[in-house]
Amino acid sequence: ETSAISLILWALAGYGLGSISFGLILARLMNLGDLRTIGSGNTGATNVLRTGSKSAAALTLLLDAAKGAAAVLLARVFAGEDAAQLAGLAAFFGHCWPVWARFRGGKGVATFLGLWLALAWPVGVACCLTWAATAALTRISSAGALGAAAASIVWVLVLGPINALVLAVVLAALVFWRHSANIARLRDGTEPRIGQRD
Ligand code: G3P
Repeated sequence: ETSAISLILWALAGYGLGSISFGLILARLMNLGDLRTIGSGNTGATNVLRTGSKSAAALTLLLDAAKGAAAVLLARVFAGEDAAQLAGLAAFFGHCWPVWARFRGGKGVATFLGLWLALAWPVGVACCLTWAATAALTRISSAGALGAAAASIVWVLVLGPINALVLAVVLAALVFWRHSANIARLRDGTEPRIGQRD
């Protein structure tokens, strides 16, 4: 049984890790401009790609996923499975609502994929494949994100562990909520394709 104090500390650590915005950092380091004034204004890899830099976008995707995975793995090693789930969720929150950037962060998709890879790798792999397949078919990043988020619930039901079901539902709901503007554009048929600068 993990103590409440330890759970709180791992939630804070996960939040701290998640709130490191690699998109903002890389865009600044590589002189790509202010992500806030580009495309959707989002801090994630999809919007970094709109600066024209594929390498910066790929690195953002990788590092934003890695911080979600790191939060889960560290918490698991030191405090067990409950702390690992909580730290993963907290990392997702940190990415979406970073205190350092006045709570204006990203949409959490890379972090979502990374935390699932660490928490339950078959679910993580299945989510990555769902994301890639949907994005490849539609050429729309947000469609990939929404497809992966919805499917993640099914993947947890099919592949387990079943004790991650509540987390899966909460995360999927948060991904959908963060994408409300994208959903409105998808309905209107105005959501830009991957790499398009809109
Ligand atoms: O992961 C975020 C992506 O699904 C949408 O990003 O910048 O097009 O709103 P964006």
